[in-house]
Amino acid sequence: MLRDDATETADKPLSATRIPTMNENVTTFSPIRWQDGGLKLLDQTRLPREETWLDCDRPEDVAAAIYRLSVRGAPAIGVTAAYGLVVGLDTRADDQSLEERFVEVSELLGATRPTAVNLHWALERGREVFDQTGGLPDDKRIAGLLAWAHELHAADVASNRRMGAHGATLFTAGDRVLTHCNTGALATAGYGTALGVIQASHDQGKVSQVWVDETRPLLQGARLTAWELQRLDIPFKVVTDSSCGTLMARGLVDRVVVGADRIAANGDAANKIGTYTVAVLANRHNVPFYVAAPLSTIDRSTPTGSEIPIEERSADEVTEVFGTTIAPAAAPAANFAFDVTPNELIAAIITDAGVLEPPFTQSIARAFAQQAG
Ligand code: MRU
Repeated sequence: MLRDDATETADKPLSATRIPTMNENVTTFSPIRWQDGGLKLLDQTRLPREETWLDCDRPEDVAAAIYRLSVRGAPAIGVTAAYGLVVGLDTRADDQSLEERFVEVSELLGATRPTAVNLHWALERGREVFDQTGGLPDDKRIAGLLAWAHELHAADVASNRRMGAHGATLFTAGDRVLTHCNTGALATAGYGTALGVIQASHDQGKVSQVWVDETRPLLQGARLTAWELQRLDIPFKVVTDSSCGTLMARGLVDRVVVGADRIAANGDAANKIGTYTVAVLANRHNVPFYVAAPLSTIDRSTPTGSEIPIEERSADEVTEVFGTTIAPAAAPAANFAFDVTPNELIAAIITDAGVLEPPFTQSIARAFAQQAG
């Protein structure tokens, strides 16, 4: 089940995962499991038709799963990369040093997806943890890294729950909310970012209906968000991406909440392609547009959105749907996986540290200063 206390409503149940940590045990649904000494990932390319768990025995398996979107969503990619480092160290050749292997695996994982900053954030934190254990025997260093990966896993769930509580303060009873892509438990270590905000708001009676953009080309909305909302028993309708304007013009959308793969220091936010279009329409129709993301998604070393690297994926993802070609043979296509929403279109950034308001350069700087203590 996705929700700790919910009845399973759809045909294929998923059990909750007990996430082991040094300090606490968290029970929640997670698409990432460390089980029997190895990494298992729910293969999201097969949802909603099949629930298949992939065994990632080698770091190449982890990198391939991230690249082909078996595991996806910025926070989930970060946590997966943390476990991927452990998988890499566990499988090193006898004649390879732990140090050399760490660098090799970190580079392999880091090259998979350029936009989601949580990936690089997690690899950098992993490097710090690894360095702190220098001088210890290899098995102790690997155990230290695994303990940290478990911590990161649990911390992401806790941070999402905080984000949900903060975000719900912006909602009012009966809101009809539009979202884009998938930002739920599947996109994180558990609970979700924007979808976590929707869940928390729905729990407080504030959400009456969710409009789910199908999210072409890979249909994360129609396949994954709809699958999650069904299990959470939250009313929703899937719509084509191009419906957004007419829904707003008809007065059927009260708020928009989306996730982010990277937020620049000035609040410009990169998210799944099509998000910018939604933000422009929301602005035109005076619908508040919120971005929900943990502080780890804010990259203060990137000053503005124009410096955010945008992943470009294979043209086949545009010209084919589930293996069936929909364009003329050899038709060229462009496939930008993300776009950037300029900060002036964002009413608030909902974070694990609270709701940030414009001007974001200042509110972001304050949030990090507070976090540093
Ligand atoms: O290409 P994807 O499916 O990894 O894109 C995911 C998104 O764009 C999400 O909105 C974003 O990562 C935030 S997930 C909590």
